[in-house]
Amino acid sequence: MLAIIGGSGMTQLSCLKISHRQIIRTPFGEPSGPFTFGTVNGHDIVFLARHGHGHTIPPHRINYRANIWALHSLNPVHIVAVAAVGGIRENLTPGALIIPDQIIDYTYERDFTYFDSSEEPVTHVDFTHPYSSVTRAQLLNAAHLAAESVFDGGVYAAVQGPRLETAAEINRLERDGCDMVGMTGMPEAGLARELGMNYATLAVVANYAAGRGSNITAIPLKEIYAVLDKSMVRVRKIIEHLVQC
Ligand code: HPA
Repeated sequence: MLAIIGGSGMTQLSCLKISHRQIIRTPFGEPSGPFTFGTVNGHDIVFLARHGHGHTIPPHRINYRANIWALHSLNPVHIVAVAAVGGIRENLTPGALIIPDQIIDYTYERDFTYFDSSEEPVTHVDFTHPYSSVTRAQLLNAAHLAAESVFDGGVYAAVQGPRLETAAEINRLERDGCDMVGMTGMPEAGLARELGMNYATLAVVANYAAGRGSNITAIPLKEIYAVLDKSMVRVRKIIEHLVQC
């Protein structure tokens, strides 16, 4: 089974033939919502809307630990996280799709680890390559089969939000080597690694980052959802091919 976490612009997976929904309880509290089970072209999928069914949970209030714990209990082969980002690198223009290969974590005050107990030995997981190379390769192959162009690799800056960045913050992220900026990439990826799961992100550029492209004065928030709506059609095409990979 393939697990999909849908982000902004993807509160449901319209290509999914739904069989049932299930609420899963975890030792870390409630996940973002019920898990939707079904098939795409006959292949099993479980879907979770990261921000809740009605898109009401802000990035810093998402219970990442519960979401990933619950998904782990379902034992999916891969988790594909769909995530809206702002484009920092010049060629990451609104509508572009990227499969990042690195992350820098700028978030704070989030529950970011399962290894939080003083009763167990201290555990340090390797996170040199934060995304699964196997899941990334499958995503790239699926995009190829779907004839959708995607950028292979890039550094994802995970920021706290929910406000967008200042132009100076984006300049700093660029100096740090970041190509895109989003609010949900961490601790999600780190938690998936702690549980040994194959996790990769399919990022969708919703807007130029602050101070970039046409956003010299402000980010046109109304346009973001129009861009995401268009791009999600392409994301769904990739997922339809991914299930067959
Ligand atoms: N910044 C941070 N997160 C985002 C952005 C952005 O510009 N666009 C979509 N998610």
